[in-house]
Amino acid sequence: MGEHVIPTDAIDPSLVPQRTLYTGAKMPGLGIGTFGSDRFSAQDIADAVEDAIKSGYRLVDCAACYGNEDLIGIAIENAMKAGVKREDLFITSKLWNDMHGKGDVLYSVAKTLKDLRLDYLDLYFVHWPFPNYHPPGCDADTRNPLSRPYIHEEFMECWRQMERLVEMGLVKHIGVSNVTIPKLELILRDCKIKPAVNEMELHPCFQQPELYDYCKKNGIEIIGFCPIGSPTRPDRDKTQDDIADIEVPEVVEIAKAHGVHPAIICLKWAVQRGHSPIPFSIKRNEYMSNLRCSFEDPLTEEELKVLATVDKNCRLIKGQVFLWEGAGSWEDLWDLNGEIPGWNGYSK
Ligand SMILES: NC(=O)c1ccc[n+]([C@@H]2O[C@H](COP(=O)([O-])OP(=O)(O)OC[C@H]3O[C@@H](n4cnc5c(N)ncnc54)[C@H](OP(=O)(O)O)[C@@H]3O)[C@@H](O)[C@H]2O)c1
Repeated sequence: MGEHVIPTDAIDPSLVPQRTLYTGAKMPGLGIGTFGSDRFSAQDIADAVEDAIKSGYRLVDCAACYGNEDLIGIAIENAMKAGVKREDLFITSKLWNDMHGKGDVLYSVAKTLKDLRLDYLDLYFVHWPFPNYHPPGCDADTRNPLSRPYIHEEFMECWRQMERLVEMGLVKHIGVSNVTIPKLELILRDCKIKPAVNEMELHPCFQQPELYDYCKKNGIEIIGFCPIGSPTRPDRDKTQDDIADIEVPEVVEIAKAHGVHPAIICLKWAVQRGHSPIPFSIKRNEYMSNLRCSFEDPLTEEELKVLATVDKNCRLIKGQVFLWEGAGSWEDLWDLNGEIPGWNGYSK
């Protein structure tokens, strides 16, 4: 006792904007990511998360496949020893792709809850809409022979198990990630409990306006991943054509006007657009300025208009490793022509 204290420069979490989910629950307007991109150690991430919560963060974006929930559980527990209350936290986690099958979802959430040392999650996502997984740290050409296209009936079997977790009180909300409008239309048609949040890739060069508006119109709130354009993402997720958001001239110029790093402009854009970004950093100066920028020194209307024009439709997390044999390119994962492709993909 006594060793866990709130830092003197902690940020008052009530200053951070809040989103309201369709249940009426509040979700912080900015959180911290926990994916180490195969570059940062689980312990370093957990240490950052512990200090981040003690310093004012309330939304923590976790996932079983990040391989660090056991250490993050200790981090959350230590932050609570410093006086942070469970009901003030908003903890998310995600069901990994190899656990969509019958009986697997309850097993997965139980493991996550045990690792995170919690008795409920605020939000539990289906991480990807395919039961296709890759080994940790694999390269872009890795293919799992068991991989398959999106099969709605199979997905709904998984979703029914997710709904059951809400009914059991193990999770307050359920959500989707890496979905498209055609998939969401089917899910919304057939679900009993609708997704409260869609976690989707969003940064100034990848604004996904149609999917964004579709979610908002249907009462689904949005968490934005890779909000800074994920400069430290795994090499398997890098291609020559990728554009770095923090080097885009308009972003750099607005950053100069505000006297901040371009990363901060990406985050302000996200918060003011109306979703919750979850920037990752283990560097204290970065994660503190990331949280602070959600309520300090907002962008002007003019600057927001300029940023709306920098969209380059530049998806960074293309998901190649989730392709099935018979699929063409990564585009097959994203229903680009408005239809969900089958076993032969679009291109065959
Ligand atoms: N649902 C999904 O499928 C999915 C997919 C991907 C990610 N996610 C979630 O989204 C989170 C965020 O995405 P991400 O980690 O890929 O990318 P990100 O947050 O866009 O970028 C993280 C990198 O940005 C740099 N950075 C952070 N704050 C900064 C600041 N204030 N100034 C300058 N640089 C800064 C850091 O690099 P340096 O170390 O070089 O400073 C950090 O490693 C993940 O951690 C994960 O929780 C979810």
